Amino acid sequence: MRERQKPRLALTRLFPPDVMARARRDYTIVAENPEDVPADSARLLAMASGADAILCAAGDPFGEDTIAALPTSIRVIATFSVGIDHIALEAARARGIIVTNTPDVLTESTAELTILLLLGAARRASEGELLVRERRWTGWAPTQLLGTQVSGKRLGILGMGRIGRAVARMAGGFRMEVHYHNRRRLAPELERGAIYHSDAASMLGIVDMLALTAPGGPGLTKWLNAERIALLKRGAIVVNSGRGTLVDDDALIAALRTGHVAAAGLDVYANEPALDPRYLGCANTFLLPHLGSATLEARNAMGFRALDNLDAFFAGREPPDRVA
Ligand code: DGY
Repeated sequence: MRERQKPRLALTRLFPPDVMARARRDYTIVAENPEDVPADSARLLAMASGADAILCAAGDPFGEDTIAALPTSIRVIATFSVGIDHIALEAARARGIIVTNTPDVLTESTAELTILLLLGAARRASEGELLVRERRWTGWAPTQLLGTQVSGKRLGILGMGRIGRAVARMAGGFRMEVHYHNRRRLAPELERGAIYHSDAASMLGIVDMLALTAPGGPGLTKWLNAERIALLKRGAIVVNSGRGTLVDDDALIAALRTGHVAAAGLDVYANEPALDPRYLGCANTFLLPHLGSATLEARNAMGFRALDNLDAFFAGREPPDRVA
């Protein structure tokens, strides 16, 4: 592309170096965030000024009002995420702004992280690590920090999209029996032996462990509520790598306190980064800071995929991952 023809791009976050280099090579960068400070609506609008496109990330609040106030020059928003719950898609459609995301490329990393949550919660990894770090460990003991074995257990998955299916495949390595609840049943080649429950209640009543991998969205807000938690076996383990909004925090915290839920592994929270502080007071939680896709492989691929979408748009082609 010749210099004067380059589209103008606003970068709301600091992306991995190779992604930044490609963006700088192919676009005129009109705004950057070198300190990588999460931007509020006002800052996003300031960054968008004079841009044709925005490369943003999960958590950038592109709600209805922000989308409505974007400069008319903005034609496309590419989000560096598979999740799109931070963007008011209807408002973007109404403005004729195209939105793209980055599916596929973070599936394996996020599924790995889900297995980490499962193992970390079941094996009391946080408590063990604290014991060592705080120099309170006095040596091996027959009854110290006894957890729950994951191998051979029944795993329930809410959301059998790409990430849920990758978790199911990895859980096979632990000989887990996989059950799932999804909007619709998968084709047998995708199901790969997992057992479908059209009714979530029938799945919740029989599983030992529950993984939430659904992408969130209005229909699933506080899906894991007190009523559904009560259906779980006493001592069940819950992990969430989908979205914090899937969980009713009051209900989960109450169940962690009584031991009805033996442990929870959480990577995502409502109102990130201001997670409900009561989780910190529960020793039976394994808490990570939204690291699902945080591998160099996935983050580079996400950036390149987002740029592929922008390149397609500015070359007059349909962006491959258009969601609005
Ligand atoms: C996504 O892509 O939606 C993740 O939550 C960010 O890694």
